Amino acid sequence: MAEQDIKKGLAGVVVDYTAVSKVNPETNSLLYRGYPVQELAATQPFEAVAYLLWHGELPTPAQLAEFEQQERALRPLDERTKALLETMPVSAHPMDLVRTAVSQLGTFDETLGQPGGWTDANLDLGRSIYLFAQLPTIVAAVQRRRRGLEPIEPRDDLDYSANFLWMTFGELPSKAAIDVFRVSMVLYAEHSFNASTFTARVIASTTSDLYSAVVGGIGALKGPLHGGANEAVMHIMTEIGTAENVTPWLDKALAEKRKIMGFGHRVYKQGDSRVPTMKAALDVLLAESGRPDLAELYAELERDFVARKGIYPNLDYPSGPAYHLLGFDTEIFTPLFIAARVTGWTAHIMEQAAANALIRPLSAYNGVDERHVAGA
Ligand code: ACO
Repeated sequence: MAEQDIKKGLAGVVVDYTAVSKVNPETNSLLYRGYPVQELAATQPFEAVAYLLWHGELPTPAQLAEFEQQERALRPLDERTKALLETMPVSAHPMDLVRTAVSQLGTFDETLGQPGGWTDANLDLGRSIYLFAQLPTIVAAVQRRRRGLEPIEPRDDLDYSANFLWMTFGELPSKAAIDVFRVSMVLYAEHSFNASTFTARVIASTTSDLYSAVVGGIGALKGPLHGGANEAVMHIMTEIGTAENVTPWLDKALAEKRKIMGFGHRVYKQGDSRVPTMKAALDVLLAESGRPDLAELYAELERDFVARKGIYPNLDYPSGPAYHLLGFDTEIFTPLFIAARVTGWTAHIMEQAAANALIRPLSAYNGVDERHVAGA
């Protein structure tokens, strides 16, 4: 097979249709079920965006109220999940803790234990809502345990975003800060056939179950070339320290051929359509927190790296410092991404199941020629 016929990293390969979202790098736009993500971020609660991704339409007020009631009732953790979270090593990475807790949730679903239960697509919407409701409680508990704090029970008088922050910090930040968090969840919710969504679809294509597909998605998201970049952005900002250090730091990092986290994208080569919205949200927090040092560092790293390489920031660049200013530990940033992206993953898992074909590409062999075991 000719070298040029190999699509390494599946770059540029279209593998299937999707009606969940449309990424258009030429116009720098991202649509969820036809709606520009910027409009959704400006107007919709995250619950409505989750509903949209699953059902294809925004909810009516009555549908949203019913969905919110259902979601709030599913927030509290099972005692077995609390016990699991308490027994796992506190030193483990939160991505591994959350992945394990989600895997355990699959074991509570009795329908999975019945013949054919896991392939009953009618049950997948309920499972998706369950994961959507449980993940904030799990992530908040993991964050608190890292700080030696007891978990806080969910509140059913608060919406998704406010409750998430309440369970994490035991107090509510300003309305503007809660809104920044909501915006980040909307922007992270969905992005067509990215690596983790594709992983989830590969697993779904074998007619495995939804929990397994989500656990696989979490594994793919963890890597710093994908979701792990929001954590990695904060690590490099900490390493650089101040705006004055950017140029010498970049000189050295690029000489060492390091990837600069939070920059570049497989699809967007002229800038990520979600960045301006997230940057505006970050600016709210920067103004509120009085951190001109971080604002300067952010601006200088972007200016210098773009000038050198012509590679633009992706969503993880503004969301990393935003989560830092909201008070989360750096290692919790990618679990926050899970909580958002579970909506997109599950919408894709259901779409895959509805028109399934096993995903099984080919490879070109470049190992040793055929040979034989001595004496065979
Ligand atoms: N820092 C330094 N160089 C970069 C970066 C970067 N962030 N991104 C791309 N490049 C360079 C590559 O080294 C390569 O250079 P070369 O041609 O001299 O070898 C060239 O640009 C093309 O890069 P590829 O890695 O081939 O581009 P690809 O489309 O495969 O990668 C990716 C995209 C993985 C996102 C890459 O830009 C990267 O590693 N970025 C940093 C990690 C990151 O921020 N990931 C988050 C992605 S968005 C998200 O998940 C929400």
